[in-house]
Amino acid sequence: MKNSKPSKVRLDKLLGSLGYCVRKEVAALLREGIITHTENLPLKSDTKVSHNEILFENELLDPPTGMVILMHKPIGFVCSHDDGEGKLVYDLLPPRWRMRDPKISTIGRLDKETSGLLLLTDDGQLLHRLTSPRHHVSKLYEATLDRPLRGDEAEIFASGTLMLNGEKSPCLPAKLKIIDETHVTLEITEGRYHQVRRMFAAVGNHVTALHRSSFGDLRLWDLKEGEYRLLDLEEMAN
Ligand code: URA
Repeated sequence: MKNSKPSKVRLDKLLGSLGYCVRKEVAALLREGIITHTENLPLKSDTKVSHNEILFENELLDPPTGMVILMHKPIGFVCSHDDGEGKLVYDLLPPRWRMRDPKISTIGRLDKETSGLLLLTDDGQLLHRLTSPRHHVSKLYEATLDRPLRGDEAEIFASGTLMLNGEKSPCLPAKLKIIDETHVTLEITEGRYHQVRRMFAAVGNHVTALHRSSFGDLRLWDLKEGEYRLLDLEEMAN
């Protein structure tokens, strides 16, 4: 229950889970005055505390577990935890957040070459709900195509019969809006691997640029590439 009074946990467990330090370092950080209480109450590693009564270097702590991040993913960043894959979307967050437990993961993925709205969370239940194949939230993509549209794409995408290579079931109906002969928006309600690029490949075209501009009711608004902000519960209600 996210709106209930914050529960109390051991100080060392709290700081460890937020990535500030390993639990056994807390005693030394208390002695050095790096960890303090907002009302100067005495603290020990095992003191039971609430998240909002602790300061680290005189600053309130990072958001507690249960956060949802809305990021404007730039091209060139990968939705992976594996450092070997190049620049990671997690590199755009404060370094300490990489050490959090539970860890932050992306809700679905955008390809390395796709920009736009990406959600991340450390809330396992939310992650599971929003990435489940049964969850049909609409996602809007802006695509630039290599070749002019041939004319039947909107009908094919809307039909619910388009089969992608290697898939067992057809794509759910998707809405194509034509801006001009090589620029479109496509609204889909699934999240299959490389779905938009594969849908255009299935009708003999090639996507040269792809950007996700919305996820459900969420938009990027004035968030610039590489920037992120935390969502509040109301924004996530949809
Ligand atoms: N479809 C794609 O092809 N790529 C993405 O990143 C998202 C949807």
